[in-house]
Parts: sequence; C-alpha cells; structure tokens
Amino acid sequence: MDHMQIKDNVFLINTENTSYMFRVDKYGHLEHIHYGGRVLIDDAEALSYKKYIQHGATVLYDKENDHYSTDSLPQEFGTYGVGDFNEASIEIENKDSYTCDFVFDSYEIKDTDIKIKDLPSSYGCDETLIIHLKDKVNMLCLDLYYAVYYKTNTISRRAVLRNTSKLSFTLHKLMSYSLDLFEDNLVLMDLFGAWDKETHINERELNRGTYTIGSRVGFSSAKNNPGFIIRKKGTREDSGKAWGFNLVYSGNHYSSISKNEYGIHRIQGGISFERFHKKLNKGESFETPEAVMTYTDRGLNCLSHNFHDFINNHIVRSDWKHKERPVLINSWEAFGFDFKKDDLIKKLAKNAVKLGIELFVLDDGWFGRRDSDKRGLGDYDCNLKKLPGGLSALSSEIHKMGMLFGVWVEPEAINVDSKLYKKHPEYAISEENRDMYFGRNELLMDLTNPDVRDYIVENVSKLIDDNKVDYIKWDMNRMMNAVSGEYNHEYIKGLYEILDRIFIARPWVLFESCSSGGNRFDLGMLCYSPQIWASDDTDPIERLDIQKGLSYLYPMSTIGAHVSASPHMHTLRSTPLETRYNVSAYGCLGYELDLSMLSPLEKSEIKKQIEHYKKHRKTFQYGRFYRIDDEPDYEAFEVLGPDIIYTKFRRLVHAVPFYDKLYVRGLDDNKIYTIKSKSFIHNIRQFGHLINLVSPVKVNADGMLVGNISKIRGMDASAQLYQASGAALKEGLCLNPLFVSSGYNNYIRIPLDFGSDMYVIKEKEYESGKEK
Ligand code: GLA
Repeated sequence: MDHMQIKDNVFLINTENTSYMFRVDKYGHLEHIHYGGRVLIDDAEALSYKKYIQHGATVLYDKENDHYSTDSLPQEFGTYGVGDFNEASIEIENKDSYTCDFVFDSYEIKDTDIKIKDLPSSYGCDETLIIHLKDKVNMLCLDLYYAVYYKTNTISRRAVLRNTSKLSFTLHKLMSYSLDLFEDNLVLMDLFGAWDKETHINERELNRGTYTIGSRVGFSSAKNNPGFIIRKKGTREDSGKAWGFNLVYSGNHYSSISKNEYGIHRIQGGISFERFHKKLNKGESFETPEAVMTYTDRGLNCLSHNFHDFINNHIVRSDWKHKERPVLINSWEAFGFDFKKDDLIKKLAKNAVKLGIELFVLDDGWFGRRDSDKRGLGDYDCNLKKLPGGLSALSSEIHKMGMLFGVWVEPEAINVDSKLYKKHPEYAISEENRDMYFGRNELLMDLTNPDVRDYIVENVSKLIDDNKVDYIKWDMNRMMNAVSGEYNHEYIKGLYEILDRIFIARPWVLFESCSSGGNRFDLGMLCYSPQIWASDDTDPIERLDIQKGLSYLYPMSTIGAHVSASPHMHTLRSTPLETRYNVSAYGCLGYELDLSMLSPLEKSEIKKQIEHYKKHRKTFQYGRFYRIDDEPDYEAFEVLGPDIIYTKFRRLVHAVPFYDKLYVRGLDDNKIYTIKSKSFIHNIRQFGHLINLVSPVKVNADGMLVGNISKIRGMDASAQLYQASGAALKEGLCLNPLFVSSGYNNYIRIPLDFGSDMYVIKEKEYESGKEK
C-alpha cells in the first residue's frame, strides 16, 4: 500500500481516499501543502502556496529573500519569534525569551504502534512517520508523529518535546497538532451543551478572527466536546467536503481555528494550557495526547463513518470490542437511593428477566450510609440494611436468574461524611487556607497521590473480583475547581493509570463510563470503556438531539441509551413508549424505570421491543449509520447492517400534513426490497373522548373503565408493507397518508406529537418471490 511516500523534500501520507502533504523548505521549515482528496506526490508544487510577494510590514525570515515570511507560510507547526504572528502551536520560555525556530533534522517510519507515556492512544496503525525537528539555538528537539489508519481514512497526530540541553525551560504550550488549511467558505460544527443537554450541534461560519472550543472544568466536559468538524458551506449529509478532528484525552482541552488575512485557517488542538507552567529540566520530555483527523468529499455521513470505523477498530479494546452489548435494566430512575430493602431490587430483577433483559445494574445507593448524595462516597462496604445478603449474594441471585450483574461506583469522589474522609482527609483535593467548594456534596480525590490511586485500584478490583461483577458504571459527578493546568493533566494521567490497572487487567468486564451523563464523552475514556452514558436526560425528544450530535463523531456501539418512564424526570414531557424505544435502539439499549409500575400491555410491548432489538442488535450497534437530511419535518435515522432499519421521528403534529417519504441510503439500485413498518400498539387513552366514536356505549375517557382497559388493550398501529427497488428507495418511497380527521382506515398512519415510525427493510429475491 502507498501509505507514505517521500520524494526529495516532500512527504505524502495517503489513506484510502485522502492525502496529507507537506515538504521541508530551503530553511528547514515544514511547509503544509495539502489535506484533502487523493493527490500525487508530484503535485506538491502545483498545490503549494505561491510565495512571490512581500506583504507590507511582515517580518522577513531571511533579509535576502523578501518573498519569504513565516506569517503567510502554511506550516505544520507554527512557532513564535521568527516572523509568524498567527497563534503559535508551541510556547517555551527561557530567561524571558519565547523565540523558537524548529527546523528539520531527520525522519523515521515505523510500522508498529508507538505508545504514549502515561496516556492512552489508538492502536493498530498501518505506519507512523516521525519528523524530528531541532531548535536552531537551544538543544530542544520536537518530534511530530503522524500515524496512518489507511482503511478508516484517519490520521493521528501528536508532538513530543525533548530537552536535550543542560538548561531548564518552562513549557507554556504544546499542541497535539496544527493544520494550516488553505480553504475558504468554511463552517465550524462543534458539540456544545450542558448537563442534561449534551452534544447539541453548534454551527458557526468561519470569518476573520479566532474561534475556540475548550473545557476548563477539569474534564472533556458537556459544555464543549473536544471533537469538532469543519465543513465547506453547502456540505450536506451525503455530499461535500468536511474535515473532522478529535482528541484522545479526557481533561481540559483547547482547540482554535483562526482565519488570517491571507485566507488560511490555522486549526490546532490539544490539552488546555491555561494556568500551565511545566518546568522541563535537562533530559525531560513532554508528550501531548493524540489527536485524530479525517477528511471526506462525500458529506458528513461519510465523515462520521470514518470516525465510527476508527473508533470501533482502533480505540475500543477489551473483550467487548466488536461484541454486541447486553440489554440492561438500571435501578437509578426506578428508585434513586430509595430501596430500603433488597425486595425492590430483586423484584426489579425478576421483572427484568421476564422481559428478556440481560444485565442488571445496581446504581447508586448500595454502599456506606448512602441514602442521599450527601454521604458515603469513598467507602466500599455494602449497606446491609438495604441489601442484607450483601453484594455477593445479590450477584449470585442475579446470575442464577440468567442475567449479568453490574454495579455503580464513583471512585474519583469523596464525601466528607464518609469513613474514608475521617481517616484520610488528605485524599481529597482542597486548597490550603481556602474554603472547600463542593459539587453534588462531594470533593474530588487527589489522583496525583499514588496512595489514592492504590486505594481506588484495590477497592474497585476487590469489588469486581469478590462479587463476580460483569459490568461497572464508573461515574464522576462534579467539576474540578481551583487547580493549575498542570495539576489537571497529572490528575488525568493518574485516572488513566487507575483505569489501566483495573480494566486492562480485566478485559471481560463491560465498563460504562458516566459523568453526570455525558460530561466526559471522549476518545480517552473510550480507550477503557467501550460505552458511555450519553446523558441523564432520557426524554427521547431531547435524546434525539443529543444522540444525533454524538453520531457525528462517535459510533452507536459507544452510546448508552435507555427507555425511561414518561412523563420524563428531566423535562416533564410525555412521550409514547414506542418513540422511547425507537430512539434508544440507536445505541446500547437499556431500561431505567420501575418495571412493576407498568401495565400488562406496556410489559408486553417492552418484551416485543427487546426481542426486536436483539434480532437487529448487530445492525443497531455496528451498522452503517446515516442521518437523513431530506426530510424537513422529521428527524430520520437509517442504519444499514445485516438488516436495514429506517426510523422517522416527529416532533409536533401539523394539521393536513404533507405526504412524506423514506429516503433510504446505501442500497443496491437494481435490487428489490420489502419495507415493513414495525408493529406497535397505540395507548387508547391518547385518543381521549374520541374513543366514543368507536365505542358501542358512551364512556368517560378519563374514567376507570377506559383506564383499566388501556392497561390490557390498545389499538394496533396500521401495518404498512411496501415494495420498491433500491433506486426508488433512494429517490424517496411515498408512504401511506397520515390521519387528517376525515376518517380512518387500515392504511392511515396516526401521527402523534413526539411519535415515530420504524421500518425494517429487507432484500427480496424478486424472481423466486422469497424474502432473503
Ligand atoms: C449521576 C449519573 C446517573 C446516576 C446518578 C447516581 O447523575 O449520571 O446516571 O448514576 O449519578 O447518583
């Protein structure tokens, strides 16, 4: 394969559909030439920026050459002090001087993964190019790494600064990558949010100036995910150019995109260097986290596919890599802390198993004196008042029922009201002579202290081993306050060490990471936890935005999504059970509600949902996921795997709705398919007094009679069956009409606010008349 080509002074890195090119110029600087579609190495001159003019007051690098200024030169890694006034990618201080001038020294190509010291990274690359640069004055070496993942069209980048001199330097900034993109008419798409409304798409047209994305809350954060996309104006889901960026890191981060006066966008990303002053003594080095980039000219769906494949193949590890994730029941939205005796828990488990659920997760409240979020964090002893038999008895009971057993923990935090704090107050992060600042009544543990790391590793490992725990939900529920940038980085390295010791050593454990929902949804955590709880908000309408936002950068196999009780705890909105399933099915499905409160009809619907999910689970979790942007009134998702599943989600009903269509992607134009709607039952209560139009006797719609009937009987949604070629499905299959109040028959679809319709599409062997 042609991953890396080097000719004269030009370096070309190829993936299946992309090329990345730079060259060493006559001064030894790395001149960026191209990141986009496939090109030839001999195109370097044609594609490069032409330097035949001096720009006014610019500072010349060489006084004999008035055409060369680093300010207008697209570069691989811009520095300060040699005429480049764009944002520098590295800042080093030595006795008040910030100047550095890194020039080419040598290069190496390796065909094995090269681990980053103390940080997780992707694995299984095809090749890595390492460019060694040296500062012209100080004995500082800068190594730029470019790892290529050919099939997934992804390139990862990172930098290492080595101090080979006898002096000490202060490092203020070292980005993982910098890219001077020579393009115009660009739009930035980032994932913006908050607790309960994570990862909403935020679009900004890139004009002159600097746009930043970042977190200073100590973690990758719900405020701004580290991943983002830059697209050309006009790029849509299935056409146009786009570049994607992400970081394999879970702490404070910073990315900036600045458009300069020459129309070049400098894009750079890495850890946040706010309040960061790292002393780099003789012989020491600093390694950045890894950043990943992808490019496509085939639209945003294709960009997402590159990232999905990259994550499933080169980030996620453990026995759960490529493995179907179990359907779970979680106790949190069912009971919170309030399960006085284990009867409730066991009842939940018994109900769950009857519905086909495969994993029982005991959430918060099982340890110490944890009856509220005010106490108990830091302790690992089971609360025997709540679970008299202890965890191991519960675990074996759950196992006997045929389910896996999972437990919630929050090891990074401590309550002052805990046995641990009484014994080791120094385990908590606090500032001397200052007040303690609490978040959800807790303090964070000092993960830079090796004793704290040992304490967590020992206790969580024992918890898993002694109780045969199959799944861990690892939560972290507060922001990190009043620490330096360096401390934050050391904390995150401490966290990774802990996760390494617990989970890399126990690859069979399914680890789901959580941080008040999606406050830490990032590639660093995904190196340990194959799935992440996306949001505490389980209202499916909110989840549509959250999960759609995530889908741009992360595959469905990584997204925890649960069906909860309606009206929803976080919005008070009521939604149909069918939509709750239809949204959660595009992820790792779970249920999070008190199953004993369900009517027999709801139970039988949930049982059918779980059967449906298991039948198509491979497709839902690992299929090709498409966002459909042809449907203005709907959100529509398609997933194409062993089966094809297409779902339309409605927000609000309109009177006299337009006829609507299915626009199915990725099929064979010449094959014939059958399209079948997934059956489900409408709750008769949603029709209110209209029930009297069909009832033989007049009934009170809010009365007990209708209430009781609705628990056992519903109205079948109209079954729809169509047949069409792949070509017709691409153009848009016209669906049966929606209800308009002038009558009802078997063909009419009933629209509901927040309703949805799921279709299963199968190839049909037309000649034999048999469906495949
Ligand atoms: C956080 C999590 C929830 C739940 C609670 C338990 O808020 O995001 O899913 O586990 O903690 O306290």
